[in-house]
Amino acid sequence: TDDIKKKLPLFGKQLLVTAGPTYEAIDPVRFIGNHSSGKMGFALADELASLGADVTLIAGPTAQISKYKSIKRINVTSAADMLQECLTYFPAANACVMCAAVADYTPATVSAQKIKKHDDGLNIELKKTTDILKTLGGQKRDGQVLVGFALETQNEEQYAIEKLEKKNLDLIVLNSLNDAGAGFKGDTNKITLIDRQLHKTTFDLKNKAEVAHDICIKLIELLKK
Ligand code: CTP
Ligand code: CA
Repeated sequence: TDDIKKKLPLFGKQLLVTAGPTYEAIDPVRFIGNHSSGKMGFALADELASLGADVTLIAGPTAQISKYKSIKRINVTSAADMLQECLTYFPAANACVMCAAVADYTPATVSAQKIKKHDDGLNIELKKTTDILKTLGGQKRDGQVLVGFALETQNEEQYAIEKLEKKNLDLIVLNSLNDAGAGFKGDTNKITLIDRQLHKTTFDLKNKAEVAHDICIKLIELLKK
């Protein structure tokens, strides 16, 4: 079986994948989160492992379970936790796919006690989180491949290209929420891949395992360069 493993296209490659939402604490019992299911990131981690990669999966709160025992899973809760783990594992990675739906804002302060309700409304001050992907893009070494996702509802390609360039990515996966059946809750996605040469490939609506396969084919090509 060792000889078979060695023939796999990603044998010997260290892959870092993030998945799921982040939860940003408001007080001991409440948080701000999002609808990410983690399915796309887990499908990617499974596909990468099946192609022979050594996969580290940094996952926000999700009910997903990996297919392969070889996948090293690291559970995190907040965007700040995810940043710390990414900074730890990125230097040794040959490639990183940032699939997580990271919160853009987090409460400026976390109440130590449960916030009691009063007669009036409640304002919660938010501060920006660190952009993990952009931080990794700034640290990227020669030969490392960095892949991001872009979730857009308008001016999709233009916004995706802006993210590719601003965050120093090699590839961006544009996820269209406009298409019925696509998005981060369901089992299917419709994606467009855009690389640094602005070469675009649009795929049909497919299940997330098949989408993961399409992304991996492109990733293998980028790792060869
Ligand atoms: N991302 C990240 N850290 C953040 C926010 C986003 O690493 N604090 C990553 C996501 O994992 C994704 C990419 O950046 O791979 C794009 O995320 P997206 O939400 O589409 O874009 P943003 O840059 O956050 O911009 P906006 O939400 O305003 O569209
Ligand atoms: Ca965002």
